[in-house]
Amino acid sequence: MTLPRTVYLETMGCQMNALDSELVMGELLSRGFRPTDDLDAAELVILNTCSVRQHAEDKVYSRLGHLKSVRGRRPDQVVAVIGCMAERDGDGLLAKMPHVDILCGPGELHRLPGLLDDVRDRRGPAVALSGRLRAHSTPVRHAGAHEDLEALDSGRVFNLSSHVDTPKIFGRHQAYVRITRGCNKYCSFCVVPYTRGPEAHRPPEQIVAEVRRLAQAGVMEVTLLGQTVNHYHYREPGRPSTSFAELLRRVHDEVPELPRLRFVTSYPRDFTDEALAVMAESPRICRYLHIPAQSGSNAVLKRMNRGYTVEEYRRLLDRARAMMPDICIAGDMIVGFCGETEADFRQSLDLLRYARYKNCFIFKYSPRPGTHADERLSDDVPEEVKRRRNNDMLAVQAEINLAGHRAMMDSVIDVLVEGRSKRALKMQESEQSRGEEVDPTVRGPGQLVGRTSGDQIVVFDGDSELIGRFARVRIVAATPYTLHGTLEGPASEPVSAALARQRGIPLAVLGA
Ligand code: SAH
Ligand code: F3S
Repeated sequence: MTLPRTVYLETMGCQMNALDSELVMGELLSRGFRPTDDLDAAELVILNTCSVRQHAEDKVYSRLGHLKSVRGRRPDQVVAVIGCMAERDGDGLLAKMPHVDILCGPGELHRLPGLLDDVRDRRGPAVALSGRLRAHSTPVRHAGAHEDLEALDSGRVFNLSSHVDTPKIFGRHQAYVRITRGCNKYCSFCVVPYTRGPEAHRPPEQIVAEVRRLAQAGVMEVTLLGQTVNHYHYREPGRPSTSFAELLRRVHDEVPELPRLRFVTSYPRDFTDEALAVMAESPRICRYLHIPAQSGSNAVLKRMNRGYTVEEYRRLLDRARAMMPDICIAGDMIVGFCGETEADFRQSLDLLRYARYKNCFIFKYSPRPGTHADERLSDDVPEEVKRRRNNDMLAVQAEINLAGHRAMMDSVIDVLVEGRSKRALKMQESEQSRGEEVDPTVRGPGQLVGRTSGDQIVVFDGDSELIGRFARVRIVAATPYTLHGTLEGPASEPVSAALARQRGIPLAVLGA
């Protein structure tokens, strides 16, 4: 069998997966693969999977069920399951889906090219898992092209035209950069520490260099990624350590050509005043924080092993707002966690009202095998109660969203234009809606989607020439998930004075 040449890559789950997919795709393109969006015809199918809730895993099983029927017609099609579900359910998945040729955990993605070489002979599945969820680690059969996983990130080849995988989340002028991997928090409901392993921090020079390369390739907005991003702390014997606040300052100051910098996801316990101060002082760091609370009840937070109280969480919000009155804060909430009473749930609603999130992702608790909550606590909130609480909370948050958006009516704001709105084609305001879907490939006049510094989504009419640039938009209408605006004109890019000098741009033009 020859090496497959067309690849279909589908990404489920979080931003880490979106980044992993981009890195994997970059690697495959450099090896001569061509991307296709035809699942049945692709020679290589890669599903980058998520295990955080059962629903995400069910979706993968349904895709694999379809691919089983394709195998009858296309015996040469190679199917790879990568990401958290490969790691969590490896053996179980192979037992149920024997047509899967490759399993590769999120900590082993650098081995994927080696696994592809292996599978050519079709002597059974090629497997690379870290084995944290098993008593015995599954043997890794082949080393890949990279010495270690770090090389996958730092060897990244970014090119605006190969940035194919994430148009739904992202325009092409935005990119993710990993600063930490894994998580050590072990929240009792969460599978991530098991699938992505212990927390590890990337060296600051590597991060700064990667951000600089992206900015020089035309990226306008970089989002630094970590499961608990503000917990970043780089230590190496014999040299000064770097805190999250110091890293933020370095990236902001040492890459003046980058117009926008953000970071997700923040953990409520590790936020220093120093990090908030760096944000407040740095004009190109977005006024946006995503700080999941998960619950507004101290009893539930304790069972979740979150390590903070509601009062501490509220004080963090107060501190952030005192230093940055225009900050937009987003949250995550879980409803129906083990033992959650109506009184607990009402406290979560109270927290929602206090927090006035610009957006909150709301999830029904889904037991994950291997986690503390699944093994030691009882999933005792009935499904219909979870559903009702979920709907009630969505309704409260929708009111908060709408009030926040209405307060912006008639204001004029700068947005980074991400692409063409797909809403005209498909209305989609589901539970997890991030608002508008974006297609950066459609050209000509029509409805565009842009994002504010606070991560609000703005839709307005304009020419696709504006995609990847800043536009100044007047807000004329608001729904809970979207702001509607009219174009006032191009915005001055929020570039620093240093870059303006470098590019020979008169500072007056930039409004600096
Ligand atoms: N710190 C991570 C969190 C990963 S999981 C980050 O980068 O966002 C994302 C969100 O999924 C969590 O904040 C939590 O609200 C939700 N979640 C995690 N495990 C869950 C479970 N077992 N059931 C329901 N929701 C869950
Ligand atoms: Fe999960 Fe808690 Fe870490 S939600 S990713 S264990 S901070």
